[in-house]
Amino acid sequence: MKTAELRQKFLKFFESKGHQIVASSSLVPHDDPTLLFTNAGMNQFKDVFLGFDKRPYNRATTAQKCVRAGGKHNDLENVGYTARHHTFFEMMGNFSFGDYFKRDAIHFAWEFLTSPEWLNIPKEKLLATVYAEDDEAYDIWQNEIGLPSEKIIRIGDNKGAKYASDNFWQMGDTGPCGPCSEIFYDHGDHIWGGPPGSPEEDGDRFIEIWNCVFMQFNRDEQGNMNPLPKPSVDTGMGLERMAAVMQHVNSNYEIDLFENLLKAAARETGTPFSMEQPSLKVIADHIRACSFLIADGVLPSNEGRGYVLRRIIRRAVRHGYKLGQKQAFFHKLVGDLVAEMGSAYPELKEKQAQITEALKNEETRFAQTLETGMALLEEALANGGKQLDGEVIFKLYDTYGFPYDLTADICRERSIDMDEAGFEREMAAQRARARAAQSFKADAQLAYEGRDTEFRGYSERQTEATVLALYKDGEAVNELAEGESGAVVIDTTPFYAESGGQIGDVGYIFAGENRFEVRDTQKIKAAVFGQFGVLVSGRLKVGDTVTAKIDNDIRNANMRNHSATHLMHKALRDVLGSHVEQKGSLVTAELTRFDISHPQAVSAEEIAEVERRVNAAILANVPVEAAVMSMDDAKAAGAMMLFGEKYGEEVRVLKMGDFSTELCGGTHVARTGDIGLFKIISEGGIAAGVRRLEAITGLNALQWAQNQERLIKDIIGEVKAQTEKDVLNKIQAQAAQAKVVEKELAKAKGELAVHAAAKLLDNAKDLGTARLVVAQIDAEAAALRDIVTDLTGKSDQAVVLLAAVNDGKVSLCSGVSKPLTTQVKAGDLVKFVAEQIGGKGGGRPDLAQAGGTEVGKLTEALDGVEGWVSSKLA
Ligand code: ALA
Repeated sequence: MKTAELRQKFLKFFESKGHQIVASSSLVPHDDPTLLFTNAGMNQFKDVFLGFDKRPYNRATTAQKCVRAGGKHNDLENVGYTARHHTFFEMMGNFSFGDYFKRDAIHFAWEFLTSPEWLNIPKEKLLATVYAEDDEAYDIWQNEIGLPSEKIIRIGDNKGAKYASDNFWQMGDTGPCGPCSEIFYDHGDHIWGGPPGSPEEDGDRFIEIWNCVFMQFNRDEQGNMNPLPKPSVDTGMGLERMAAVMQHVNSNYEIDLFENLLKAAARETGTPFSMEQPSLKVIADHIRACSFLIADGVLPSNEGRGYVLRRIIRRAVRHGYKLGQKQAFFHKLVGDLVAEMGSAYPELKEKQAQITEALKNEETRFAQTLETGMALLEEALANGGKQLDGEVIFKLYDTYGFPYDLTADICRERSIDMDEAGFEREMAAQRARARAAQSFKADAQLAYEGRDTEFRGYSERQTEATVLALYKDGEAVNELAEGESGAVVIDTTPFYAESGGQIGDVGYIFAGENRFEVRDTQKIKAAVFGQFGVLVSGRLKVGDTVTAKIDNDIRNANMRNHSATHLMHKALRDVLGSHVEQKGSLVTAELTRFDISHPQAVSAEEIAEVERRVNAAILANVPVEAAVMSMDDAKAAGAMMLFGEKYGEEVRVLKMGDFSTELCGGTHVARTGDIGLFKIISEGGIAAGVRRLEAITGLNALQWAQNQERLIKDIIGEVKAQTEKDVLNKIQAQAAQAKVVEKELAKAKGELAVHAAAKLLDNAKDLGTARLVVAQIDAEAAALRDIVTDLTGKSDQAVVLLAAVNDGKVSLCSGVSKPLTTQVKAGDLVKFVAEQIGGKGGGRPDLAQAGGTEVGKLTEALDGVEGWVSSKLA
């Protein structure tokens, strides 16, 4: 049974049992900051289990894309070396939301696996585990399914804490969880391994194929197990493992789907196809994770999800390199993957070009440093030592872009230890250097235990406050003296701390003569703001009563740019398409810088249309309103939100009339009209598939327009145009004129050279039957030929060799008067000289040209010409 058929059968079976078939969710979990990537079928239903969300169905079934590379469930390092670890895999699942529970879950699984109508797996090949205390599940297996007791294994808390067990499943450190019952398949005694719970359980003989989780609790951040509103069911069946069972093979890599990907990996790396080659498995596995991640909007970068993606790509490229493939190859597998999985996941087909492009870019970038990095690594390992130095690991990471685990991978292959402590030391030193370079930036290390900051800056520009803490050089102090830099924490503040792209406020904190100039505001804890700056006069003590006042002009400019960003975001999605997602944002008093996912340059027309829409929204002068509401209400209001952003249960929704609704904690103008003129001033690419736009507003936009106007005026004056319209014509005319002049100049130079050449003939060396002209002259390469022809035309006896040096290169031209060509051939002559100056050349007996690069050898070569010609004449 092919993998694709198995996928369909599973969904059909559960549909026949009243389950709604639901599409796989994105690999990038929406609104869930606890999760790096979707790692199980239940993720998209998390809120349904918790009772926060309701669906029109209470039974569902899915084929879910999953990535386990980073976060709680991370299999990256095992991939390639085991029979069934993957970075990407598909999990088939059936779910009950407060509907059926243990009995039906177990019966459904058993029926699907063993019924002749469905998979028809021999019952004696199966065994089950239950959570040690779960007598109910045990009873169902024993008395209803009829499994003999030696095939029902109780597994307790085998991981060192209550509920820490192979038979207690949880999605992450928090969230829905519960005891589970797993079904195992026995691949037969020709394969090493023991049943679950035995010392040999890690072998490949007994493989878990199905997990029924009986969802009962919600684990909170303190570790409390809160009962769920209704007991529910979450199951998972690994598609690839199950396909291996159905195809009678032991390794996932031997199933139909992987066979083709492995062949493609072999083809692109020029390696013979073999199941025994871990690097081919790594590549075949990684192309799936990377392509699916990019299709879901992740791009390689230096942090978060983007960094995990980068690590996976680089690991694949390194394994290709290991197989001898030094050219970019990985992206060439995308087509094979689309052929294999494009029908089940149409997003792969739709984004094929984008995926290929992003992979190719990343590969090419990495290829440039891979070779040098590998050389450094080989050198470090050449001394036969058993440990790789922390400094080398750091250098590979920092300079050559080798993720830590990539180096670890190589070391593991060669049984070499890593000096982790040394690497950590280097990393810490680098962090310290980065901190020192930004002396006013927040130091996340600031120790603070007091109360949270009350931020009043949405409505107030000035507050009366009490100083709660002071810091100097990162240490808490009681007092700051004149001239000292540091940080101030106050109880109520109008200063906005940098977040959501908007930079921190600046201004003053003062009491009488005592003035602290705030140059930046950063959060030092989630809800504690640090005002960073310098005490410019007097002193400041903990406990002082002070006035905190922000710089109004700068704040107003920040607000204009921030509000304009929302309008621009919306307009970009409307004009370019809904694939546009925010990839980065910076709002300062000068500009808004906004990065978006978009595969090509934004055209001048598109930019003009975005500007038009934003300015129209500004002219509508609608009120800008913020409201705090639940996440559900925000979703219902259609608020734009960023994937993967950390949002609490309560969110602030910012609405600008009908133009834009977006989650945002930033400070904004009161009405859109306050933004003033909006103008995009630059557009460009910053990474594969990511464009950066910069725009300005208000008086900055006016000043920009005035500068442009001045520039045009200056140009008009310079080219002596009458009107703006005239200016282009003038410039074009002047350029055409310049071309004519250039041509004339070249001609004049040529004539001058000919004239000078005639003199050369007068001074030619008399060799009896021939007059020899050998000279280095000052002329363009192209002019040499004319001069030589001119000379040989003027005399029946001329033998000429002229050289000219331009831009560090030698041009040679030789000519021989027709009657003499039986004795001296121009082609031979020019070749004779050219060969001495690192060049080649040749041509007709009467005219030939050549070039050379070794200018320093020219004089000597020319000196030899007379002897060479004489020998021919003799
Ligand atoms: N969520 C369960 C698992 O991932 C089914 O194993």
